[in-house]
Amino acid sequence: MTTVSEGQVTSMSPEEIITLAHENHDRVSISFSGAEDVILIDMACNVVDDVQVFTLDTGRLNPETYRFIDKVREHYGVDIEILSPDGEALSRLVTDKGLFSFYKDGHEECCGIRKIAPLRDYLQTVDAWITGQRQDQSPTRADVPQQQPDTAFGTDAHAVTKYNPLANWSSTQVWDYIRENDVPYNELHDRGFQSIGCEPCTRPIGPNMHERAGRWWWEEATQRECGLHIINVKEA
Ligand code: ADX
Ligand code: SF4
Repeated sequence: MTTVSEGQVTSMSPEEIITLAHENHDRVSISFSGAEDVILIDMACNVVDDVQVFTLDTGRLNPETYRFIDKVREHYGVDIEILSPDGEALSRLVTDKGLFSFYKDGHEECCGIRKIAPLRDYLQTVDAWITGQRQDQSPTRADVPQQQPDTAFGTDAHAVTKYNPLANWSSTQVWDYIRENDVPYNELHDRGFQSIGCEPCTRPIGPNMHERAGRWWWEEATQRECGLHIINVKEA
């Protein structure tokens, strides 16, 4: 496998990283939820033949987000695999603890059932995933590299590599790309939302606030990873 060395990190473009991921692995999938991820889909459509995309449907997304997912599907003519949580585990959680337990005892349990378990199962079926994480999104992401072994989801029997092609991009670069290339975006961005997750755990933010300040706002900023990217917290 070709790896990105330290020296290359700043010189490889996102398109080159996407190409590298597809050269290195047979089964590569883009994880899609936010503005960055559509840029990755846009770029991938230009540089690879078979673009594979998935999204974790937690069941708690805003209606605008569901419309956005479908808009992206139609705009690029790509299939988007929609992954759902296990019904029994979910039913047990909401029956025992109600629909808003995360405000009382933290988001881990709910995210664990609605996102992490379906992602864990899905990543067994691919060799690599591509995410839209950026270093300046949060203190937990300050050291995110463009390529890394995914030690949270990979196992000895099945290694998983994670690519973060936009690791070095700023928010300004993201929005310049979206405007210049007519990339579809979630209409909630026009209403003060920056980083968008599930409806009960996301709120709009003010002009001078950090872009992830509206996510799990009742929790400590250094711990605000839902588990998808838990290696950021563990390796920090
Ligand atoms: S989160 O972990 O706190 O929710 P964030 O919303 O910043 O993450 O997104 C970072 C990256 O994680 C996205 O660019 C995307 O690659 C992936 N991601 C986040 N949420 C989802 C989701 N629901 N489905 C698929 N990928 C996701
Ligand atoms: Fe549950 Fe909130 Fe996590 Fe969504 S973001 S899975 S609603 S805790």
